[in-house]
Amino acid sequence: MTEEKIKEVLSGIMEPVSNSDFVSAGLIRNISLNGKKLILELATPETDSNVLVTLGVNIKNTFKEKIPEISEVAVNFTAGVTEHINSKKSSVLPGVKNTIAIASGKGGVGKSTVAVNLAVALAKMGYRVGLIDADIYGPSIPLMFGIKDKPGVTQIDGKNKLVPLEKYGVKIMSIGFLMEENTAVVWRGPMASSALKQFMGDVVWGDLDFLLFDMPPGTGDIQLTLSQTIPLTGAVIVTTPQEISLADARKGYIMFEKVSVPTIGIVENMSYYEDQGGKREYIFGKGGGMKMCNEFGIELLGEVPVNSDIRKSGDEGIPLPAEKTTPEAGKIFEEIAGKLAKAVTKFNASRVTEPDTVIEF
Ligand SMILES: Nc1ncnc2c1ncn2[C@@H]1O[C@H](COP(=O)(O)OP(=O)(O)OP(=O)(O)O)[C@@H](O)[C@H]1O
Ligand SMILES: [Mg+2]
Repeated sequence: MTEEKIKEVLSGIMEPVSNSDFVSAGLIRNISLNGKKLILELATPETDSNVLVTLGVNIKNTFKEKIPEISEVAVNFTAGVTEHINSKKSSVLPGVKNTIAIASGKGGVGKSTVAVNLAVALAKMGYRVGLIDADIYGPSIPLMFGIKDKPGVTQIDGKNKLVPLEKYGVKIMSIGFLMEENTAVVWRGPMASSALKQFMGDVVWGDLDFLLFDMPPGTGDIQLTLSQTIPLTGAVIVTTPQEISLADARKGYIMFEKVSVPTIGIVENMSYYEDQGGKREYIFGKGGGMKMCNEFGIELLGEVPVNSDIRKSGDEGIPLPAEKTTPEAGKIFEEIAGKLAKAVTKFNASRVTEPDTVIEF
């Protein structure tokens, strides 16, 4: 009984989210045989235990029928996503399956907060995650992760490369790691763009399911540099519910559309305040994020309330999902993480017929 035969069977089994079989989806993590016992490790963004239990039973039955020599089949599911089709063609970030910009038109709406908590939530679920602080002028990541160290340097093929710092299961790079505290970066646009390019080309990221970019506000140089350097899987736009923020979020959406980057979904932040009695007050208005989603036909990934634990965790440098048991206020980020992983896998499935685009670094 060969691995090939086992893969042949797996190529007839559909992964529930990607609209393709486990082999074509690239979601087989490991196949091992212990005597006549087959142990499979399969990756999927599916988290519904009912779906997974049924799938596991189907897989076992299929093997019994197709390869009767196997006496027992154990199926373990781990978190995994498919690779963005254009990322396979890019020479930049070769081991990275999906790159996602966490963006907004407006400043201070919670991009960094969402990026940090989302990255840690994804890592906690078992995804391999990296985070680039693309806010070169005002990096927030070192503070929000409580990092004061400097990245290491290693040599690969005779060239110096930076080793990202790792915390709470997330590989991280920020310009803030390379500067003294309390200094301001006074850089011209091209220098900032070249710093961002270095974070992609000169850092050993290894194999990642997701590389998130915490974007600066606006629709400027950095956004253009990013979209022109790598084939981004997509953007997640963060907005607060009120019209002044939505207007800028729409601009962000349109800018990404112009450079052929789809918006995967919207996170509405500061959606409401919930008092101790559970009463919700919609300080900035209600349903703005949903309204924008309906307008553009995109998914609302979540509504994050205004909450002092969220603010505190940012200031203290401990993202909420980093706690062993995620505090109540942090659970929304786990929900968003689960939805994002599924949305990305669905997006990747819908883009299999995209024309060839070769992107030069
Ligand atoms: N849901 C929330 N509840 C409470 N505080 C929040 C929430 N979201 C963000 N904040 C706080 O608001 C401030 C701004 O958030 P953050 O830095 O994430 O925004 P940003 O969009 O990244 O800003 P910039 O445009 O400057 O990069 C931070 O102090 C953060 O802790
Ligand atoms: Mg920020």
